[in-house]
Amino acid sequence: MSEDPLSLLLSRRSVVANNLGPPGPESGLLRQILTAAARVPDHKKIVPWRFILFEGEVRAAFGEVLAKAYEASETDPSPVRLETEAARFLRAPVVVAVISKIKNQKAVPEWEQVLSAGAACQNLLTAANAAGFSGQWITEWYAYDESVRNALGLGEGERVAGFIYIGTAQELPQERDRPDLDEITTHWVPNKVG
Ligand SMILES: Cc1cc2nc3c(=O)[nH]c(=O)nc-3n(C[C@H](O)[C@H](O)[C@H](O)COP(=O)(O)O)c2cc1C
Repeated sequence: MSEDPLSLLLSRRSVVANNLGPPGPESGLLRQILTAAARVPDHKKIVPWRFILFEGEVRAAFGEVLAKAYEASETDPSPVRLETEAARFLRAPVVVAVISKIKNQKAVPEWEQVLSAGAACQNLLTAANAAGFSGQWITEWYAYDESVRNALGLGEGERVAGFIYIGTAQELPQERDRPDLDEITTHWVPNKVG
């Protein structure tokens, strides 16, 4: 199961959805993972996000939505691509759509609300890792498609922050290059002018 928290963060990697498979977290554990995802900094406690779960058979039903949306957007839709769209959500046992939900709150700028939704996505991924699963944060084309938005039941001010695919790695990923810390980090020095 989980290693010590810092080692987990220092070694974590996403596993591409195509390399995820069963098992996924059972319902009690998924609830805990989602509870961790909801435990993110949230200025003024306005909860500017929500989760939509896809498990079991509804994953295929949502695939039909994606295939139809793709078909409607193309003059000459490819049959292979239609199959790919229909099978998208079957790549992992659990998919969680994290929805950014902008609240009308003068004290909390939209930017901060969006950042909190991103934090919820990352906490969800990390909590899944800590519980022994792998995952990937994906948007692909369907996060931005109007008919998919409708099928998700998104309202005004709501956007997909990510689809978090969760399952068990069928193949472990290689290391990935990471930024040179010294290139992205500076120490602030007081401005001596004046
Ligand atoms: C908002 C967001 C959207 C992303 N969408 C996709 C996507 O649609 N397809 C994809 O292959 N990777 C996508 N990624 C990248 C993967 O989630 C991930 O960063 C990449 O596979 C390497 O991950 P790692 O550094 O966690 O190992 C997205 C990342 C973010 C933050």
